[in-house]
Amino acid sequence: MLTWIVPKRNILYTTLLEGMTDVHAHLLPGVDGGSESLMDSMAALKRMKEVGVKRIFLTPHIADECKNNSPELLQAKYSILKECCPPDMELYLAGEYMLDSGFDARKRGEILTFPGKQILVETSCSSAPERFLTFLFDLVLEGYKPVIAHPELYRYMTQDDYYFLKDKGYKFQLNLFSLAGLYGKLSRTVARNLLDKGFYDYVGSDFRRLGDYEKGLKNLYLSANRIRQVGELFENNDSLWHSGSLPKQII
Ligand SMILES: [Fe+2]
Repeated sequence: MLTWIVPKRNILYTTLLEGMTDVHAHLLPGVDGGSESLMDSMAALKRMKEVGVKRIFLTPHIADECKNNSPELLQAKYSILKECCPPDMELYLAGEYMLDSGFDARKRGEILTFPGKQILVETSCSSAPERFLTFLFDLVLEGYKPVIAHPELYRYMTQDDYYFLKDKGYKFQLNLFSLAGLYGKLSRTVARNLLDKGFYDYVGSDFRRLGDYEKGLKNLYLSANRIRQVGELFENNDSLWHSGSLPKQII
């Protein structure tokens, strides 16, 4: 019996990252368990630039657990980080919203979205919020387009749930390093499965620490088919950035 060995390449030896747009990163210093200091953020930006990243949507956690993360504070930190950003890199401030008990109240204030009122939302990895579907339905009624962050990490979700959410038109964002096994074997299997189904719309690094980023890069090996699949998501990321409806931000 013939055994087919599919050759795989490390992502750093592909062209996938050249000129890429990252849609998910915790690079604002000292706000959400991601980058701890401005120095950390600058080191991260330098390394991301080296591997080919050109544009980054910053997505700080906005959640009950991060009570201080008002839009004003995040804008202030964003202004500082922009000043320290390497030339030829662009940053844009969005957010990653936890669907928790404070979400409705936060929604009444300023919301930090992607262009086109696309809003990155997440839940706990272990259980769905009680009003999960209501949160999503309400967002749509209010003109938002939910983008569900890293659905492969939600251990409570079943295949039927993924089909249901896609059927409702919600977008999915893959964590790139799920494919490297950074979050465990189960998440990697689910990510591969959702990728094969064509369920993902965007891909992001979900950057938190440079060490994890390097580990993810080092361990991410992709077949030609996966390179094509992930490449399509990077194209969607670029389209999101260049969608022409980027609102002007105060810096
Ligand atoms: Fe995140």
